[in-house]
Amino acid sequence: VKKRLRGAVIGYGFIASKGHIPAYLNRQQKQGDVEIVAIADISPLRRASAAVALPTAHIYSDYLELLEKESSDLDFIDIAVPPRDHFKMASEALTRGLHVLCEKPLTTSIQEAKLILETAKNARRVIFPCHNYRHAPVIKAIDKIIESGRLGKIKSVSLITFRNTHAKGVHEWEKDWRRHTKWSGGGIAMDHGSHSFYLAFNWLKSYPTSITAKISNLQPEKYDTEDNLNCVLSFPTGVANIQLSWTAGVRKVIYALQGELGGITVDDDDMEISIIKPTSGADVAQGAVTWHNETLKISSDWMDASHLNWFDSLFEEFKTAIENDQFAGKQALDAQACVETINAAYLSASDKSREIEMNRAN
Ligand SMILES: NC(=O)c1ccc[n+]([C@@H]2O[C@H](COP(=O)([O-])OP(=O)(O)OC[C@H]3O[C@@H](n4cnc5c(N)ncnc54)[C@H](O)[C@@H]3O)[C@@H](O)[C@H]2O)c1
Repeated sequence: VKKRLRGAVIGYGFIASKGHIPAYLNRQQKQGDVEIVAIADISPLRRASAAVALPTAHIYSDYLELLEKESSDLDFIDIAVPPRDHFKMASEALTRGLHVLCEKPLTTSIQEAKLILETAKNARRVIFPCHNYRHAPVIKAIDKIIESGRLGKIKSVSLITFRNTHAKGVHEWEKDWRRHTKWSGGGIAMDHGSHSFYLAFNWLKSYPTSITAKISNLQPEKYDTEDNLNCVLSFPTGVANIQLSWTAGVRKVIYALQGELGGITVDDDDMEISIIKPTSGADVAQGAVTWHNETLKISSDWMDASHLNWFDSLFEEFKTAIENDQFAGKQALDAQACVETINAAYLSASDKSREIEMNRAN
């Protein structure tokens, strides 16, 4: 018999209402393996919208009351509130025997990230981060090319994320929460850092050993969090350059990966793969080296900030982790490493970009 996972969503804001819930409803129709039975949100207007979207769900103003009343009948909770509350909500759910799907960043502090993985292992329940960029079609295509060996070993990666503003939350609550530390725990590094970091970990196939970072806040009179991050990370296998901006003129990602035998450049949906021709020489200065170039367009819906189309593939992995007792698996370890890297970036930036060692076992 196919098991239907029963879930509850905490926070019915932008990502829940535009991304997670529509994906669950679609999945409930098509595969029938998930059902959202309860929702909690502190905003009365958001609760009213939730009741319209999910007429049969039980709606709560307090997540603890939801857990108390619903836990015995639930398999998992999905945490879709700002980062400062992720840790306490995930802890409460895991210790009540529920699996947890949690939006990024997993937690705001390193201590909390470690503790949540321990809690998951002790409770024998899955902690799983929403690292959804891994599920973008163009990212899956990059991973396939790396796996094929055509590029050789990846030695360096550059990840640029341009946004013309910080992402806004729903207007019924605190739409600028990302610019206030008390809710976000930090600015663009805390908000978007995870996406760039876990992609870099995957591409370089290791965790970073050190970082040097600079952050800037171009609107200090309004906000207490940074809107730009520039950093360089050293890995046992190579190096990563990462730039994040909320003050750009465009919205796009530009990723470049350099391997021993070639490279890939991605600009949103556009990909160029360049492979050194085996017959060519080693050095362009001697006029001998030539590349085979290929351009592709891989439609990935980058402009949809809810990334609705990437959720199904993410949920599939969460489900597999549940089925295989992967309580604190690779994705959870990546999430912990993301939180460590974000915090190391802040430490470096607060000390004139001093290089900060990260002592993760690779
Ligand atoms: N992976 C992605 O691509 C992606 C994209 C957007 C947002 N996110 C993440 O999703 C989370 C939510 O972001 P958002 O943009 O949806 O924010 P949002 O402001 O639109 O939604 C947050 C919702 O949570 C509710 N809320 C706040 N505190 C609560 C509490 N203690 N208990 C219950 N409800 C509470 C608010 O009323 C609001 O409805 C963040 O962690 C963010 O980083 C991820």
